[in-house]
Amino acid sequence: MPIKIPKAQKKKEKKVSSRKKFLFSSPRGMHDLFKKDFEYRDKIEQATKKVASFYGFDRIETPILEDAKIFERGTGLSSEVVSKQMFYAKSRGSEGRLALRPEMTPGVLRAYIQKGLQQVLVPGKFFYISPLFRYERPQAGRFRQFWQLGFEVIQSPQAIYDAQIIIATYKICQELHIKNPIIKINSIGGRLSRNGYIKKLKDYYRGKTTKMCKDCQKRYKDNPLRMLDCKNERCQVFKDEAPQAIDALVGEDRNHFKQVLEYLDEVEIPYLIDHALVRGLDYYTRTVFEIFSENYDAALGGGGRYDYLSETLGGPKMAGVGSAMGIERIIDILKEQEKPRKTSQKRQGIFLVQMGQEAKKRSLRILELLYEARIPIKESFTKDSMKAQLKAADKEGSRFALILGQREVFEDTILLRDMKTGNQEVVACEKLVSEVKKRLKKK
Ligand code: HAM
Repeated sequence: MPIKIPKAQKKKEKKVSSRKKFLFSSPRGMHDLFKKDFEYRDKIEQATKKVASFYGFDRIETPILEDAKIFERGTGLSSEVVSKQMFYAKSRGSEGRLALRPEMTPGVLRAYIQKGLQQVLVPGKFFYISPLFRYERPQAGRFRQFWQLGFEVIQSPQAIYDAQIIIATYKICQELHIKNPIIKINSIGGRLSRNGYIKKLKDYYRGKTTKMCKDCQKRYKDNPLRMLDCKNERCQVFKDEAPQAIDALVGEDRNHFKQVLEYLDEVEIPYLIDHALVRGLDYYTRTVFEIFSENYDAALGGGGRYDYLSETLGGPKMAGVGSAMGIERIIDILKEQEKPRKTSQKRQGIFLVQMGQEAKKRSLRILELLYEARIPIKESFTKDSMKAQLKAADKEGSRFALILGQREVFEDTILLRDMKTGNQEVVACEKLVSEVKKRLKKK
């Protein structure tokens, strides 16, 4: 005989089980994406594809895992991205050390060379919309998994490609109606200018390092350029008087930067020369830049030239230039900008409301009808009452509801309700598609 559980105990158990904590959550700094997130992402993807197609960039996607050495050599061991933020992946085989890509540029270059495109595609122009991984301290606009859209031009020593990359990056902001984007730009020179500049920097900072942060003391030895973009307050005072990279530009480096600025002037892209801008990745040469928008502190994107990256990776001599923008940061800005508009948003689309078993069955046929006519429709089969379904339609911001009850099934009709006015009319199912189309057009 089954044991009878007292009612009070049953209630208690139910309460406990509904309170039971779910054991899993996404890794820190990594997020799931839901419907609303894709509205912005789709917009950004469309803008990227539009700009890319106009300027002749082909889409590329590379594996999320790469040989870790590609980043250690390319992005550079002295960059924080590699020294502090790389996720390593252990495989069971003999592939060596793999890493989750923290950025796209070295992988894109590897793919270009591996496929032998340097013989047939000159320059190689690529764009991507891809997820990346950096072990950062998660905070606003900074995640451990994030997405970038980016552009790369490989085998492109000409200054006009620096300008084209900056223009394409700027155009993304324009396409998305981001307010007042501004480019901050600098040139850190090629090998010759850079060696001279580093010497000047070291001379300047000599004797000052004891008053600076621990990282800068290390940077003085490994990568003095990075002392310029240190955010530690102790180090700020020394920045203003530091020698400027563009004063150390010699020969072709100087001419190259002058040309880039002239090209930007030609298309009236607003820019500021920022002498402290050196960027955090080791491969940069000559032009470096970042793009900002008003009321947002962090950079939306950044990029620059990487003329020696291919050689560093053991490839042929090949100059390149590119940029990448953070998709989550763009979304933050779009959300902020759209706030005032949200309240007066227009109703759109249709919602199917069904009541009773027969109507539920018939509603499948209605969905198919609308699918054939390519008219998107939402429903809520989990709800049975008309009130709850109309509430859901309202929450969705639907323009019309199609209501199907026993009577409508019997008469082969459907009720078309205007969600703005509440007016309803009976429509024969055979005329449903044309009537819906007519009303959606009228709006
Ligand atoms: P990056 O400056 O490291 O450059 O990243 C570009 C953009 O990605 C940043 O401006 C930011 O918007 C976004 N981003 C970076 N880290 C995070 C994060 N942890 N969370 C959210 N967003 C982030 C590069 O990655 C270079 N590969 C760009 C490039 C392409 N240079 C030449 N070609």
